[in-house]
Amino acid sequence: MTTAILARGLVRDFKTVRALDHVDLEVPAGIVFGFLGPNGAGKTTLIRVLLGLVTPNAGETRVFGVDPTRDGAAVRARTGALLEHHGLYERLTAEQNLAFHARAWRIPRPEAVARIAELLRGLGLWERRGERVGTWSRGMKQKLAVARAVLHRPPLVFLDEPTAGLDPVASATLRDDIERLARDEGVTVFLTTHNLQEAERLCASVGVIRRGTLLAVGSPADLRAQRSTSVVRVQARSWPPEVRAALGTHPAVRAVADDAGTLRLTLHHPDATPELVRWLVGHGLDLEAVTPERASFEQAFLDLVRDADGARAP
Ligand SMILES: Nc1ncnc2c1ncn2[C@@H]1O[C@H](COP(=O)(O)OP(=O)(O)O)[C@@H](O)[C@H]1O
Ligand SMILES: [Mg+2]
Repeated sequence: MTTAILARGLVRDFKTVRALDHVDLEVPAGIVFGFLGPNGAGKTTLIRVLLGLVTPNAGETRVFGVDPTRDGAAVRARTGALLEHHGLYERLTAEQNLAFHARAWRIPRPEAVARIAELLRGLGLWERRGERVGTWSRGMKQKLAVARAVLHRPPLVFLDEPTAGLDPVASATLRDDIERLARDEGVTVFLTTHNLQEAERLCASVGVIRRGTLLAVGSPADLRAQRSTSVVRVQARSWPPEVRAALGTHPAVRAVADDAGTLRLTLHHPDATPELVRWLVGHGLDLEAVTPERASFEQAFLDLVRDADGARAP
């Protein structure tokens, strides 16, 4: 198994902010890796370090074995990137934009023509290739920016919030495009997104970062399984108000929500259910059903980030 990205003890400070705090990460080649975390967590900084655009204060990184702090140009030749700015020329047509970048990459012309046609067709932009990009919607520009990032067939591409600011239809389309590109071109994708459903759908593995600290790495299913809370739905013949109130302060219970007579209980521990059932029966409740709710990836993510918030509190 080839390692696409390696980081060991990576630290990057900006004045008083520690943007990356001893990050250890290994991303195998050939997968879509999702890098998730709240705004300001350090996601873009890590990408910039890996591209050799920002120098770390401590630690080591390798991209396909190359050290980006020593040979950033070699790393950038082997990678594609869609960063916060899409990097397109608004006054050029779609085709001219890609042709410009193909020249910059010194791709021989016949090959460039074929590659550009292949990408524009694959992304459904072929009919629009002669239009100036400045007139396009953000969704179409983002598609073209993805095409630009993979134009020179890099084995690794960084996509920093590619679907940010897109309407649901445009982001679903772009997500499908990314999925198809990753599959057809065998490219390793390092993706950041705030859309957790998108991450779960696209990514074989995800990392969760908060305030420069990597909190977890694993498949979305792993993270769901490791979540620190669980939710059970409890149906009873009736809910005496005093039992309902006592539940709110029960040590195993984090939150209580009423869903049309069924209580939805968030528990601090996944294994607290039997204890809670005993407690409810002990309080004379006629239980009709106790059903665990399948943990959502979003809930697992929120638990992770909130637990880290809690750990930081004095
Ligand atoms: N060039 C910079 N100068 C000063 N602070 C920066 C700079 N770049 C990033 N930061 C800070 O580093 C932290 C991480 O930022 P960033 O990597 O952009 O987060 P994310 O991409 O996860 O939103 C933030 O607190 C941000 O303000
Ligand atoms: Mg960012």
